[in-house]
Amino acid sequence: MDNIYPINQGITKRQIDELCIQKGLILWLTGLSGSGKSTIAKEVQRKLFESGKMSYILDGDNLRLGLNKDLGFSFEDRKENLRRASEVACILRENNIIVISCFITPFASLRKLIADLCGDGFHLVYVEASLGTCEKRDPKGLYKKARDGVIKDFTGIGQDYEIPEKSSLHLNSNINSIDTLSGQVIQFLSKLEDNDHS
Ligand code: ADX
Repeated sequence: MDNIYPINQGITKRQIDELCIQKGLILWLTGLSGSGKSTIAKEVQRKLFESGKMSYILDGDNLRLGLNKDLGFSFEDRKENLRRASEVACILRENNIIVISCFITPFASLRKLIADLCGDGFHLVYVEASLGTCEKRDPKGLYKKARDGVIKDFTGIGQDYEIPEKSSLHLNSNINSIDTLSGQVIQFLSKLEDNDHS
C-alpha cells in the first residue's frame, strides 16, 4: 500500500508475554444462527474467568451494530464482515486475550480466508445443530421471518451453510447441554496449553 507507514508498539510482544500468564488465541465458532454459538461462548467466558483467564467474545450481531453496520448478508458483505472481524480478533490475540469469535461463517472459502488471515493460534470450532433444531429454537424469530419471505438470504433457508469438513473441535449442540459443550471447549483449551508446555 502506497504512502502508509505502520508503527510498532512501544513495547514488544515478548514484554507482553512476560507480563501475562495467558497466551492469546482465537477460537472461531461457526454454525447456523441459533446453533448456540453465543450461549456457549458466554459460558466458556464465565468458566475461563473463574480460572483467572481473560477472554473476549466477538459476536456477529454485535459487530454488525457498529464496526460492520454498513454490511449486509450477500457473499461479498459476509466476506468483508469476517475479514474485519478477523483483523479485530488478531489485535486482541496480540494482547494475549482468548478471543471467542461467534459468526455463522457459512462458506468454506471464507473459513479458509480467515484461517489464513489469522494464522497460528486460530482454531475452528464447529457448533453443529440441524436446521430443524435451530428453527425449533428460533430465539430471534428470524427463521419464521425467512420462511415468510421477509428475510431473503437467511442462512440455511435462502442461502447455504456449508458444513465444515474439518475443524479443530466439533460440538454437537443438537443433543448436549451448554454446560457439557462449554466444558468440551475448556477441555480443548487445556489440551492446547498442555501441548504448549510439553
Ligand atoms: S456471517 O455470515 O457474516 O458470519 P454473522 O454471524 O455476522 O453472519 O451474523 C449473523 C447474525 O445476523 C444472525 O445470528 C442473525 O441474528 C442476523 N441475521 C440477520 N439477517 C441474516 C441473514 N440473512 N442470514 C443470517 N443471519 C442474519
